[in-house]
Amino acid sequence: MTTPLALLFPLLLLPVIKAQVPHWGPCPEPTVQPSFNLKKFMGRWFEIAKLPAQFEKGSCIETNFSMKADQTIRVVSSEILKGELRTIEGTGVIEDLKNPAKLGISYSYVLPYSPYWILSTDYENSALIYSCTDILHVFHLDFAWVLGRTRNLPSATVDKAREIFTSSNIDVSRMVASRQQGCDKTI
Ligand SMILES: *[C@@H]1O[C@H](CO)[C@@H](O)[C@H](O)[C@H]1NC(C)=O
Repeated sequence: MTTPLALLFPLLLLPVIKAQVPHWGPCPEPTVQPSFNLKKFMGRWFEIAKLPAQFEKGSCIETNFSMKADQTIRVVSSEILKGELRTIEGTGVIEDLKNPAKLGISYSYVLPYSPYWILSTDYENSALIYSCTDILHVFHLDFAWVLGRTRNLPSATVDKAREIFTSSNIDVSRMVASRQQGCDKTI
């Protein structure tokens, strides 16, 4: 007997939904960083805050972006989980040449590129990242991050970031600070 896909689908989504709060309606369409300069964005970024408080329980999360010879982006993320440094490598691409701040990142050949939009950055201190996926045109699941060039950012910078997300119709009420203490292992 075959299970209708429509029945299976909510079950498949369950782990995702548990970790995230789905929002009704399609993804918001925030404006992204104008005249985005990919080269200046390259390098090391630390995760300062994220939405939502999710499955990853690691701390000291950081990502190092670098250009590859074929103009794709090497994305190396790391975290410390249970005292061990774990790294994962992915590939980033500019998904829309007219909007170079709209990147897509995939951590596996079998996975599609997930949106990775740079809503705003000064390249030298902080960056606001947003990723949203429409599900069946009924609701959407989203992620948001505040990244910093240093492990800590002034709270005023984080407050400002929240305001920018909020004014783009992104609900960051569940955004939490990322742990960046005791990170000596990732020098
Ligand atoms: C980031 O990646 C570049 C290119 O692979 C490498 O040269 C650099 O050492 C890396 N930086 C860190 C902090 O891992």
